[in-house]
Amino acid sequence: MITLINGDGIGPEISDAVVKIIEASGLKIDWDVQTAGEDVIAAEGTPLPQRVLDSVRRNKTALKAPVTTPIGKGFRSVNVQLRKELDLYASLRPCKNLPNIKTKFENVDIVVVRENTEDLYAGIERKTDENTAESVKIITRSASERIAEFAFDYAVKNGRKEVCAVTKANICKLSDGLFLEAFRKIAARYPQVKSNEILVDNLCMQLVLKPENFDVLVLPNLYGDIVSDLTAGLIGGLGVAQGANIGADYAVFEPVHGSAPDIKGQNKANPAALLLSALEMLRYIGENKYAEKIERALFKTFSDGIFTCDLGGNASAAQFTDAVISRLAGE
Ligand code: NAI
Repeated sequence: MITLINGDGIGPEISDAVVKIIEASGLKIDWDVQTAGEDVIAAEGTPLPQRVLDSVRRNKTALKAPVTTPIGKGFRSVNVQLRKELDLYASLRPCKNLPNIKTKFENVDIVVVRENTEDLYAGIERKTDENTAESVKIITRSASERIAEFAFDYAVKNGRKEVCAVTKANICKLSDGLFLEAFRKIAARYPQVKSNEILVDNLCMQLVLKPENFDVLVLPNLYGDIVSDLTAGLIGGLGVAQGANIGADYAVFEPVHGSAPDIKGQNKANPAALLLSALEMLRYIGENKYAEKIERALFKTFSDGIFTCDLGGNASAAQFTDAVISRLAGE
């Protein structure tokens, strides 16, 4: 069984589309569907009921559609809470050019590995006086070593050539310095993978000049958050940006984008980012054959020029989904 958190906003629409496409591929998945987010607050008093966490703990693997973070209602982000509760310490965001999706950049094939549990996201902030605020950036040796290990393991398993650590260690000498020290220690255990280091400001410039020069990037939480949106932009934006949050025991696959309330219920939401996340999930559970089959059908759909409006096309979400399904038939 696999947990399906179908989210809110456009979440249920794109979840339905992805379930339909996977079903049409011939792969039978027993989904444990769990609702979460705004739509369950009234009945259950929280956007993340315990049953959702229990389900992921039981099934170990989840596909998650986006969930709205209500502003000013006192609820913590469902996404941050999930990552914390399940210790999903690695955020994995592969960004590769897709067929027939024209961007200003070619030959992009970058994997962003972001540390998900600490840094400025520890939420330790205070006002020291009326005119001064401080935020605490926490970097630990153990979290830095395990994210570096995750990045190198990923590189080995996926035939990647280089892992590059991204920091601002020239300024944050102690905190980013520790991240880098941990990276160097782990890198020494992987002589078959090249290791490299770059400062985050230089990386940003290089990414928009020569993105083809980068392979696997490993970053502390905040730089990872910002850089992974930048790399999503290199390949066509949120409609096609996939992701996953992975820990030692559980893995939750989810797109980078949010619940897009502005297009909810309008048959416009592009299911491709959730579908690409689901394909990574299928590879993770060993269903590579079906992942490849669905990917070929998706790429054919793009190659045939069928796009939803976020990518400049005029297909509705339903037409796009049907187009992928009809191309599965020839696979
Ligand atoms: P958003 O990603 O939902 O939307 C930004 C823009 O991209 C909007 O114009 C939207 O229409 C468009 N867009 C996003 N996904 C699309 C898709 N699949 N197809 C076509 N267009 C798409 O970001 P926003 O508006 O900042 O956030 C909305 C809500 O989502 C917030 O409550 C936020 O907290 C939540 N959120 C949830 C995430 C998650 O569940 N992992 C991640 C990011 C935001």
